[in-house]
Amino acid sequence: MPVIGLGTWKSPLGKTGAAVKVALESGYRCLDTANDYANEAEIGEALQDVFAKGDLKRSDIFIQSKLWNSNHRPEHVRADLEATLRDLQTDYVDSFVIHWPQVCTMFPIEADGKYSSDNESHYVDTWHAMEELVDAGLVRTIGLSNFNRRQVAEVQAAARKYQPTILQNECHPYLQNKDLIDFCQRTGVQFQSYSPLGSYDRPWAQPGEPELLEDPRLKEIGARHGNKTTAQVVLRWHIQRGTAACPKSVTPARIESNFQVFDFELTPEDMAVLSDMNMGWRHLLWDATAMHPDYPFKDDLPHDHVVPDAPMNTSHSSRN
Ligand SMILES: NC(=O)c1ccc[n+]([C@@H]2O[C@H](COP(=O)([O-])OP(=O)(O)OC[C@H]3O[C@@H](n4cnc5c(N)ncnc54)[C@H](OP(=O)(O)O)[C@@H]3O)[C@@H](O)[C@H]2O)c1
Repeated sequence: MPVIGLGTWKSPLGKTGAAVKVALESGYRCLDTANDYANEAEIGEALQDVFAKGDLKRSDIFIQSKLWNSNHRPEHVRADLEATLRDLQTDYVDSFVIHWPQVCTMFPIEADGKYSSDNESHYVDTWHAMEELVDAGLVRTIGLSNFNRRQVAEVQAAARKYQPTILQNECHPYLQNKDLIDFCQRTGVQFQSYSPLGSYDRPWAQPGEPELLEDPRLKEIGARHGNKTTAQVVLRWHIQRGTAACPKSVTPARIESNFQVFDFELTPEDMAVLSDMNMGWRHLLWDATAMHPDYPFKDDLPHDHVVPDAPMNTSHSSRN
């Protein structure tokens, strides 16, 4: 997969299509989408406009989408993908990943205020249904997202025909995931970092939380490399670690500059400074699903953590 892709979570309707067009004009050849983001139809329209101009064709672009949590039962997997294909106006996606290992429906919310979870279906059965999508020619590769190392290894052991090719998990200098990435590299899985810039627009941001792109250490490194932005420094770090990344932006100048990361190189000393920035800060815990047995980040929850109620005013697309 191309090392830099455009992220589209939280990209609002009315801006997503334009962002996709600017990205493709700027050189991006990879788009990260999901039916949960509720903007795939606008991406599909934008792609049709781009193809109509004749500069690019479908096979020039690597499109990744995701199987949503409520559709893990084997009989639901193909229908979930087909909705995505209809919205994106394409016959196939290049990568289709299981969005989260835990199965839950967002609505209805249970009487106790928690999400409904399906404890009888399991991601290994889902994986076998995903394998059939490859045979049907609807997806080129299949992969995982938000799985922890044990869960990835479990899928690898259970795979009948196709191994997971991609793992998309949160990763940035404040959450470096070194063990997980080493495991992926050793077992032939391409790691793709989500929230690679620290997800400034995350809906649950709290005052006083660290803001990666404001970090003075990144500013200092950028200044030494001819005024590179902190985002460019961070994206360069991802590339030099051998991981792919999908920064999100709907701001044309940022979309363009986030792709201008192939004309400079961080020194070993720069890489060491970035390496020291790790503090295990995970922004996307989604702890309202932590009651599910397959919830992946149990070890990251605080001691005595109490599962919060599902937020009643949360729309399907404002979480992921
Ligand atoms: N599998 C999953 O569960 C999962 C979870 C989270 C994310 N993802 C994927 O990963 C993508 C990226 O993650 P993310 O959206 O959480 O966060 P991100 O890419 O780390 O950060 C996005 C934020 O950074 C801003 N930004 C982008 N470029 C910038 C620059 N050069 N200078 C300053 N600010 C900049 C954006 O603002 P503007 O848009 O206003 O320019 C936006 O507020 C998502 O969009 C999605 O495709 C997947």
